[in-house]
Amino acid sequence: MHIETVNLEDNSYPIFIGEGASLSLENFEGYIAGKDIAIVTNEVVAPLYLNEISDLFSNMNVIEYILPDGEQEKKLKTVHKIIDRLMEAGLGRDSTLIALGGGVVGDITGFTASIFMRGINFIQIPTTLLAQVDASVGGKTAVNHKAGKNLIGSFHQPKCVICDSRFLETLKATEISAGLSEIIKYGLIYDREFFQWLQKNIQQILSNDPVAVAHAIQRSCAIKAEIVAQDEKEQSVRALLNFGHTFGHAIEKLTGYGNWTHGDAVAVGMVLAARLSENMSLITPEDVQNIEEALTAANLPISLPSIDPTELLAAMKSDKKAKDRKIQLVLLKKIGEAFLTADYAKEDLTNLLRAS
Ligand SMILES: NC(=O)c1ccc[n+]([C@@H]2O[C@H](COP(=O)([O-])OP(=O)(O)OC[C@H]3O[C@@H](n4cnc5c(N)ncnc54)[C@H](O)[C@@H]3O)[C@@H](O)[C@H]2O)c1
Repeated sequence: MHIETVNLEDNSYPIFIGEGASLSLENFEGYIAGKDIAIVTNEVVAPLYLNEISDLFSNMNVIEYILPDGEQEKKLKTVHKIIDRLMEAGLGRDSTLIALGGGVVGDITGFTASIFMRGINFIQIPTTLLAQVDASVGGKTAVNHKAGKNLIGSFHQPKCVICDSRFLETLKATEISAGLSEIIKYGLIYDREFFQWLQKNIQQILSNDPVAVAHAIQRSCAIKAEIVAQDEKEQSVRALLNFGHTFGHAIEKLTGYGNWTHGDAVAVGMVLAARLSENMSLITPEDVQNIEEALTAANLPISLPSIDPTELLAAMKSDKKAKDRKIQLVLLKKIGEAFLTADYAKEDLTNLLRAS
């Protein structure tokens, strides 16, 4: 078992990483308040893993809430329904919510935990690679609004995160690739050596090699924990984690939520951000080629779906990170170092979108 810590003073918490990590009650001890637990999961994950998690808490009052699958569930109505159920069951402030699922379940459950009774304990048990390396760590919780993704949300840190690599065995290959997109992102924005390691190990990760997968999860969680510890509420350095995301969120919105995976959309977004960085002579054409090759090796797309560039720009402007209507982007100074800027030629961005 490997443990990373997210250091946030009173809100610090461990990330337990390892095969079987979710089966050890020890990993939950100290993070559960009271005797009432509600496990929120979905119709895909429930038949696979819900019983084994529920059984761990046989001496407690356990409520199970099973959502339909899909990004379209990330809406206030779903939160309302979960809260109705918690109320009916008489859960109070000293209850604990457990998110058992991918980023969708994690975001909905975290947001519900943040507002139910003004905020209750919650635990993340992420079951997708993307959720293990990204969504479950850092306390961002949200649901979508028709105006855009994650526009209704809060910061609410989990009490602990439990990343069990067993869950990845049942994941579709496309979901492993989606996780790889965020893993590659960490290398690009923060750790050149990790990116170089990834260039050599993508096939091993795709084929679920336990050593490679364990290293990728540990290093990704360590980088995310380090960044979040420096800037919990995204006032500065945490914004770098949005590399590729302003483009990506706009792609997700315009293709209809759930039609493109978050990872696919972010992959194309990273390529666009890298090409813009190259236009500004920050990184080299070889760097861009290396990025594209790594993403392609991970079975991720590197070019835009057929979207009108003007619509894409408009969607990027409506993203919540657009300050004063000027689109701020995370670009690369070099592989392993990113920065946030609105200081680029607008025509460069427009031309890039037309050409991609
Ligand atoms: N809060 C954050 O910091 C943060 C960061 C990144 C992404 N996100 C959000 O996360 C969401 C994407 O998360 P995701 O990629 O995990 O998608 P997801 O939750 O939709 O899961 C992908 C698919 O895998 C299925 N699944 C989950 N675990 C499984 C398992 N072990 N075996 C088989 N199938 C399984 C799900 O039912 C779903 O069909 C987006 O809504 C995104 O906005 C949040």
